[in-house]
Amino acid sequence: MAVNMKGKSLIEIHHLSHEEIYQIFDLSASLKMKRLTGEPHRVLEGKKLGMIFSKPSTRTRVSFEVGIFELGGTGLYFNQNDLQLKKSESVADTAKVLSRYLDGIMIRTFDHQDVIDLANEGSIPVINGLTDLHHPCQVLTDLFTILEKKRTLRGLKFAYIGDGNNMAHSILHGCSKVGMDVAIASPSGYKPIDFVVKESLENAKYMGSKVEILDDPVAAVKDADVVYTDVWASMGQEAEATDRKKKFQKYQVNPELVKNAKPDYLFMHCLPAHRGDEVVNEVIDSENSVVFDEAENRLHVQKAIMALTM
Ligand code: CP
Ligand code: NVA
Repeated sequence: MAVNMKGKSLIEIHHLSHEEIYQIFDLSASLKMKRLTGEPHRVLEGKKLGMIFSKPSTRTRVSFEVGIFELGGTGLYFNQNDLQLKKSESVADTAKVLSRYLDGIMIRTFDHQDVIDLANEGSIPVINGLTDLHHPCQVLTDLFTILEKKRTLRGLKFAYIGDGNNMAHSILHGCSKVGMDVAIASPSGYKPIDFVVKESLENAKYMGSKVEILDDPVAAVKDADVVYTDVWASMGQEAEATDRKKKFQKYQVNPELVKNAKPDYLFMHCLPAHRGDEVVNEVIDSENSVVFDEAENRLHVQKAIMALTM
């Protein structure tokens, strides 16, 4: 049965039900097929999506802008520096004003609380396009991509190697919601935040799956169906890059490490990748790698999210 998601914001995967997640996947598959066959699907004719960015972006920006255009609407790009937001105007006042012009907002910023406030104070759906805490659109896309390739999610093992960052947090929420076993290996001091681990353990208990927070990348990758990594220094952490490079050496995804995964494992990365750091060419360019299908699917999955919520 269809779940009505109209008006709902997408701030983190934890707020989505199992049914809502699969509804997004079903519509993503259908919109992907329509695009491929040239069948019209202008279900958001005349709608306006505001896109606020206070960090750089290639995939998120282009896939949202192309996505709303293909659905019949218009995307308006705002660099946060061009807005009054958080300079001479509060998040709350901005939310109220933008709600009078737009039908939805996609925002990429630092502070996760700003996205929550924007959604609570405005009257239109807000889509999180990455914060320091979460990247839900990316992980919904990642799960959709795994479903396409493996035909199932439940019972698979997802290994994430590297920084306990926004990607790790959304992966914990996403995998535990759909009943995938998830193992995260990070150096000490760079583990995922406790409350997200706790929420994910509760989801996993309900689904009968596992959540493991480990030090050892080999143990995490053992028999994995998916091996995932992300940059060692995220946007906003550039000053820590040299220090992190030393601390994360053991966490590089290379041919030696992936020998421990299942032979038909999928290599995934949200991109941009820092080749030679968290992953080497022999892995990211291998037959197991699906990073460009993953990038393409951002378009289809976000079109589904917009179509359902706006
Ligand atoms: N994966 C991702 O969100 O890429 P961008 O930073 O290019 O948007
Ligand atoms: N962790 C990375 C993800 C980029 C898509 C960052 O926040 O920069």
